[in-house]
Amino acid sequence: MSVLQFLTTVHFGDGKRDQLPALLAQSNVGKPLFVTDRGVIRAGVFAQATEHVAGADAMPVFDDTPVNPTEAAAAAGAALYKHSGCDGVVGIGGGAALDLAKAIAVLATHEPPLWNYCNRHAKPAPIDRAPPLILLPTTAGTGSEVGRSAVIVFDNGIKAGVRCPDLVTAAICDPELTHGLPPSITASTGMDALAHCIETYCSPTVNPPADAISLDGMQRIFRHLERAVAGGTDPEARWNMMMGSLEGAISFQKGMGAVHALSHPLGARGFHHGTLNAILLPPVLRANREALGDKWAMMLRQAGWPGDADFAAGIARLNAAIGIPARLRDIGVKQDCLAEVAGQALEDNAHKTNPRLLAQADYLAILESAY
Ligand SMILES: [Fe+2]
Repeated sequence: MSVLQFLTTVHFGDGKRDQLPALLAQSNVGKPLFVTDRGVIRAGVFAQATEHVAGADAMPVFDDTPVNPTEAAAAAGAALYKHSGCDGVVGIGGGAALDLAKAIAVLATHEPPLWNYCNRHAKPAPIDRAPPLILLPTTAGTGSEVGRSAVIVFDNGIKAGVRCPDLVTAAICDPELTHGLPPSITASTGMDALAHCIETYCSPTVNPPADAISLDGMQRIFRHLERAVAGGTDPEARWNMMMGSLEGAISFQKGMGAVHALSHPLGARGFHHGTLNAILLPPVLRANREALGDKWAMMLRQAGWPGDADFAAGIARLNAAIGIPARLRDIGVKQDCLAEVAGQALEDNAHKTNPRLLAQADYLAILESAY
């Protein structure tokens, strides 16, 4: 039996950003460092998220978040934290900004390099004195606000996690912060959330509560993703997408599979995580088909598709309907990196919890069929 761990305090609902001042006060944070990205600021979402915080305009902001957060960006953010005399961190943005906020909170009070805290080590350096950290997602995708780690591209080029399950003081999931999200980002981040629910459910680790949560998240996403892409301000679609994203990340404590084992090394080459997962889902589902047993039919039910339908083909059709490119070549992946990526997938933590044990040749076959 797995360890069952569902940790983070979450304030969920439309308008819940009004809780931010009280949460800062409860954590004795007088001068937070805000971690976000320039797109979130330009779109006015940063101002919306902080509208109830008195004096937010004058507080330090780190907005230099890369598409895939890096060890160097974490070090730069921690330097700003120390230079500004901050006493807490607030992350506002998509998964990249939230994961970076986590890494900055670690380096704010722990010795570098960040690599020492990476989950690739048998015994990562302890994280035991980080400042208060409050996270507000502005996409419905990664669920980083309740995830147990921060996924970082380290200086050595490896994309992997810093395991930090106790780091987040509280999360505020306010679906209104996602109403202005463009259709393409709604689609790609939504497919990341769906990939979390599917990979978690398919993972053979024994954790029935996580399975139930992932199935509920899956159904919400299947019912609402196309609506959220088509009509950004549809409050019911946005609420359910954010709940599905949260549920995907609560449940992926159980472990994921080949989609993420491949999208991590591909993401280290600069490609968007959610888009990669969307493209990889159909061929990975086909490769895992025999090992999934009754789960295949259960997922068809969650999707609302006929019992004799091809679940993998359905996911490919959903990708097309929401404007996601069909193939890795369409987003600029170079064919000559595929063999190396297939080897790197074997090193990824998600590799260990795929429904069947895959070899490098299996990963290469998946990549080639997605290419
Ligand atoms: Fe993901």
